[in-house]
Amino acid sequence: MAILACALLSLCCCFVLASASHHFMNKGTFFTTLNVQASQSQPYRTGFHFQPTKNWMNDPNGLMFYKGYYHLFYQWNPYAAVWGNITWGHAVSTDMLNWRILQLALVPDQWYDLYGCWSGSATIIGPDKPVLLYTGWSNVSFSRDNQVQMQAMAVPENSSDPLLEKWRKIEENPILVAPTDINSTKFRDPTEAWIASDGKWRMLIGAKRKNRGLALLYKSSDFVHWEQAKHPLHSVPRTGMWECPDLYPILVAGKNGIETSANGHGVMHVLKVSLDDTKHDYYTVGTYVSDTDSFLPANAALDAGIGLQYDYGKFYASKTFYDSGKGRRILIGWVNESSSSENDIGKGWSSLQGFPRQVWLDGDTKNSLLQWPIEEIESLRRKSVSLSNVPLKAGSLVEVRGVEGTQLDVEVEFDLPRMDLAEALNVDASNVQVTCSNLGASRHGALGPFGLLVLASDDHVEQTALFFYIVASEHGWKALVCSDQSRSSLARDLDKTSYGSYVSISQRETSLRLRVLVDHSIVESFAQGGKVCITSRVYPTKAINNKAHLYLFNNGTASVQVRNLLAWEMASAKID
Ligand SMILES: *[C@@H]1O[C@H](CO)[C@@H](O)[C@H](O)[C@H]1NC(C)=O
Ligand SMILES: *[C@@H]1O[C@H](CO)[C@@H](O)[C@H](O)[C@H]1NC(C)=O
Ligand SMILES: *[C@@H]1O[C@H](CO)[C@@H](O)[C@H](O)[C@H]1NC(C)=O
Ligand SMILES: *[C@@H]1O[C@H](CO)[C@@H](O)[C@H](O)[C@H]1NC(C)=O
Ligand SMILES: *[C@@H]1O[C@H](CO)[C@@H](O)[C@H](O)[C@H]1NC(C)=O
Ligand SMILES: *[C@@H]1O[C@H](CO)[C@@H](O)[C@H](O)[C@H]1NC(C)=O
Repeated sequence: MAILACALLSLCCCFVLASASHHFMNKGTFFTTLNVQASQSQPYRTGFHFQPTKNWMNDPNGLMFYKGYYHLFYQWNPYAAVWGNITWGHAVSTDMLNWRILQLALVPDQWYDLYGCWSGSATIIGPDKPVLLYTGWSNVSFSRDNQVQMQAMAVPENSSDPLLEKWRKIEENPILVAPTDINSTKFRDPTEAWIASDGKWRMLIGAKRKNRGLALLYKSSDFVHWEQAKHPLHSVPRTGMWECPDLYPILVAGKNGIETSANGHGVMHVLKVSLDDTKHDYYTVGTYVSDTDSFLPANAALDAGIGLQYDYGKFYASKTFYDSGKGRRILIGWVNESSSSENDIGKGWSSLQGFPRQVWLDGDTKNSLLQWPIEEIESLRRKSVSLSNVPLKAGSLVEVRGVEGTQLDVEVEFDLPRMDLAEALNVDASNVQVTCSNLGASRHGALGPFGLLVLASDDHVEQTALFFYIVASEHGWKALVCSDQSRSSLARDLDKTSYGSYVSISQRETSLRLRVLVDHSIVESFAQGGKVCITSRVYPTKAINNKAHLYLFNNGTASVQVRNLLAWEMASAKID
């Protein structure tokens, strides 16, 4: 069906192309424009983000570092640019920049996974023993006991092969079916396993009971036979289905990561859940006591599903792993499109993986994380420009000349302006996105909006704005961090929702910092050293190829000063 639809659509495109190449009036012509303007036909494919050569991708799965290679598995539909027939794609890399795509690792071919091999994780259970746990999705009429989602396990055919090309599903599968009090359509996404203080394995599975999100806890001595613990490790009412849970230790001090079973003095834990209802990844920092199989958030107001997000834009179903090669913890998340599925079918692919981030505990708060693009990205930096002490008067728009194009890494630092001028405005987690979108880049406030315009056409009709807006809130100064997509593309039929969050500004702070990675159709922003991250997808029609410009702007009524700006054009990574 999907293949047929695609063929029909292509025909339709060719036909429209001749008559209506420059109008942006409806869905049909947006397609046309995609094909016309992009003589190279694929302006939205990226240079340094992982994406398969074609078709639909979603969650990252089974991340691990094994015998010198990073392994990325991912949910992939071999047949179409829309979701369905889910398999595990597999790619390997030695630097998480350049990827080599291998044969499919898991395909639906057993009664318990006939409708798809859904998300799961990798655990290295011994020196030469990587295993995969995943969720099999089956049609009730083909499954036993009316089970729909079941957990299964696969092992490498040859664990001496560092590429781990071939995988074998074990005979004991399915190793777990849903407990009787859980709907078997709400039982999925096994985590990486870890060893608790009793020497036994533990792992989590996402679930829901009534409207309560659950991380069900399981124990095993041999990794094949699993027993459910008396209580879920954690649950939060009214958060709905918890997908893709992730539990990992984090050091109280420093940027290093630690191995997933590590615990004890100087270690806290992060629990992340992906909320099916809101499509955002929420995390909470707390204490995991393995003797009692319990998890307690450090701050109940920031509990899983109701507090902090890894990212305030498009970023979902993420997963971390411990990189034993470089002693750090890495986070990778699925970045969905913001276009319609008709558009996705037209361009033949859908979704990216976000650029890998290193994560560590924010020493300022002890209950939140910092996230930063892995250092390997710096090897892609080419031509650069550097500015310092640039005053930006009210209403300024300054082009940053010397770098151009759609692959950029930009770091900018602003001196804190006169804070006594800040408008009084109460922002909190519940209203910040709406506030960002109401304020927008074009409003004239006092201290803001000021920031960057990326992927901007020379006539400014297309631009994506990343900006700060400083306000005096009830509990002190806050800088809103906003990503405004409302003018990112002349094309319609796109999700142009603005995203936002905020950082608190302490007395010791003297500047506001923003780093932005631009890669054709993805913009990833990291504010204040990684305290707040926002990923957006944009589809400019004019600001493509070498017609994309970079600007600094200040639309506030007070002056601000750029302390430093460094921008690089970025080379492409090799993905094949
Ligand atoms: C893909 O999935 C659809 C719907 O689930 C099914 O009808 C179709 O046979 C599948 N295609 C292949 C090639 O497996
Ligand atoms: C299960 O499979 C049968 C036979 O192919 C089909 O009629 C039915 O619609 C399927 N159910 C679901 C929920 O996909
Ligand atoms: C297993 O992989 C190793 C390393 O790549 C290779 O030397 C060996 O021949 C493989 N064994 C089999 C049975 O394929
Ligand atoms: C289980 O969930 C499915 C999908 O949401 C729903 O259709 C079904 O009625 C539920 N079953 C029970 C027993 O609640
Ligand atoms: C992915 O994007 C599409 C189009 O914007 C949207 O309809 C869908 O809900 C999104 N899904 C997720 C999981 O974010
Ligand atoms: C700044 O304000 C001017 C004048 O109102 C407006 O034309 C411009 O689009 C605004 N800049 C941004 C980034 O919105």
